[in-house]
Amino acid sequence: MDTLIPPTIDVHLTSGDLRAAMEADVRAGLTATPKQLPPVYFYDDRGSRLFDQITRLPEYYPTRAERSILEAHAGDMVRAAGADVLVELGAGTCDKSRVLLDAMRDNGCLHAYVPLDVSDTTLWEAATSLSESYPGLSVRAVVGDFHHHLDRLDAPGRRLFAFLGGTIGNFDPAQRAAFLSGLVEVMCPGDRFLLGTDVVKDRGRLVAAYDDAAGVTAEFNRNVLHVLNRELGADFVPARFAHVARWNERDHRIEMWLRSLDTCTVHVADLGLDVGFGAGEEMLTEISTKFSLDALGDELEACGLVVDASWVADDDEFVLTMARRP
Ligand code: AVJ
Repeated sequence: MDTLIPPTIDVHLTSGDLRAAMEADVRAGLTATPKQLPPVYFYDDRGSRLFDQITRLPEYYPTRAERSILEAHAGDMVRAAGADVLVELGAGTCDKSRVLLDAMRDNGCLHAYVPLDVSDTTLWEAATSLSESYPGLSVRAVVGDFHHHLDRLDAPGRRLFAFLGGTIGNFDPAQRAAFLSGLVEVMCPGDRFLLGTDVVKDRGRLVAAYDDAAGVTAEFNRNVLHVLNRELGADFVPARFAHVARWNERDHRIEMWLRSLDTCTVHVADLGLDVGFGAGEEMLTEISTKFSLDALGDELEACGLVVDASWVADDDEFVLTMARRP
């Protein structure tokens, strides 16, 4: 395994598609009650840099906890999966996948890597650098999203679908059910699913992880307003929106909101839309659901998956779950 194989990229989402989706999402969200925006629009270049900073904050434990589980158990995971293809959902910079790729290579079963992401530039850079790091690895990047393009991830061999980082926590229960059922539908016998999820814990720690002392998460939250100003010609004044992070006990999730400090009218030029905010009105910008180990197993099984194994961090901070089709 030492020849360098040039990566390929399949594009199922164009910039026009992304633009149309953003317009529809923002129009629907700003005219809803309460107002809301999908978290996907946090991540422009600045937002991705801010998120990267978040992952290194003392209060934000999930990234470190997940990494420590992967570093301790990647060997067991790839042996349990018996896969020779790693499919990564929402790959981003493909950072976390290196731990799994190393383990597959050491296990002598690394054939292909199929990262799926909405951002073609990030994906292309990551794909190029990965195919250089792993001579003989066939890297087939797919530009698409995990709600519509799970059926474009074909690869010869047994696939391990990895959905890491706790990103599934961004979905509400209906979105999770749709995603998981869609995944089960495309899985073949022998394929495996590895899911990273944050775990319910002390409420003080949870809130602190989303309301850090340095204010990085607050900047990350307000960044979505900068994105709408730039992309849609909106005139939000981000400094006049306060960051709010709150634990929702009933739905066991952290919610991030932006609270308008003043009464104001925001004009969104590209949508021909004027939106009024009352003083103190809050707009929902992200949910980050936390799971109990039991509830997670039940939810996966309700969607047609069978849990094979799970690995937790030292004090049950975070969990990685391996599942398959029955
Ligand atoms: C990338 C969705 C897993 O929910 O913890 C971090 C995003 N938001 N701080 C999370 C996030 C605020 C993160 N996920």
